[in-house]
Amino acid sequence: MNTSSPKVSQKVRTAIFPVAGLGTRFLPATKATPKELLPVLDKPLLQFAMDEARDAGIERMIFVSHPSKSAIERYVHHDEELCDALRSKGKHGIADRLGKDAIDPVAEQAHFVMQPTPLGLGHAVLCAVDEVLPGPVAVILPDDLIVGQKGCLREMIEAYETGVAGHMVATMEVSRDEVSAYGVLDPDGDVEGQCMTARGMVEKPEADAAPSLQAVVGRYILDASIFDDLRQQDPGLGGEIQLTDAIAKGIERVGLCGFRFSGQRFDCGSKAGMLRATLAFAGRHDEFRSILEDHASLPLAAE
Ligand code: UTP
Repeated sequence: MNTSSPKVSQKVRTAIFPVAGLGTRFLPATKATPKELLPVLDKPLLQFAMDEARDAGIERMIFVSHPSKSAIERYVHHDEELCDALRSKGKHGIADRLGKDAIDPVAEQAHFVMQPTPLGLGHAVLCAVDEVLPGPVAVILPDDLIVGQKGCLREMIEAYETGVAGHMVATMEVSRDEVSAYGVLDPDGDVEGQCMTARGMVEKPEADAAPSLQAVVGRYILDASIFDDLRQQDPGLGGEIQLTDAIAKGIERVGLCGFRFSGQRFDCGSKAGMLRATLAFAGRHDEFRSILEDHASLPLAAE
């Protein structure tokens, strides 16, 4: 392991959820329903992300949203009236579940900030700056669903708190055809356990120019200096303030590590990924398994 990279070990107390994007790949569904509330069966993507943050011991959740996406706020907060109505009909199970899923106003901190224009992921993260607790911050992109024995953010925080680097990004190996859709790590050759230190990171490189096949997916733990780097960040690819560029800028100062998470990732920002996630979850339930089996043997009906 590279001993020259600065050692940082601070508690990760804040998680930022950027949820202000336009979700164009899911239009027209996302015209009125935020992408982050689209469900895998009955569970919205944002709920998976909140559960992952809770499991990781996060104290404060900051949702960076857009004024047109008020459904997200409504979803996150407890709905007493709905729960009462459900209980009056004897539906205690679902009322309990809704109570457990929503933010507990006594035990949990939830803050909302607005990103009036979706100027990129880096800009969305910067919008949260006034609400974060001291120390490094986690960023969770709800449309990257990661499921496994251990929550992805929890395993990242455990590795992060050993002080491997100031910035940590979740990575997975992809094929060369796919690299141009991702931020890609430039590893320095040091690997220890699930951590791979890196000297750089490039946003959406051409296949031939990619420094590796280690693609960055939607989980980050970032040293607090990321906010200074984001403030100074000029728009990059697509005219957006890229989080990748700001991370790359801080590498010499705080170090960068790619974390090869152990769970399975579904790109639920795409229709194909959402379909894969839905099929994978459906396959776990007896009530759906027979439908999947029947469907596999059916000829496709014309659209
Ligand atoms: P994506 O780029 O996948 O989301 O951003 P998008 O732009 O909404 O989707 P498409 O590409 O148009 O279909 C990943 C996450 O970052 C948020 C999105 O809401 C999503 O949760 N995001 C993205 C912001 O909050 N602000 C931005 O400016 C961009």
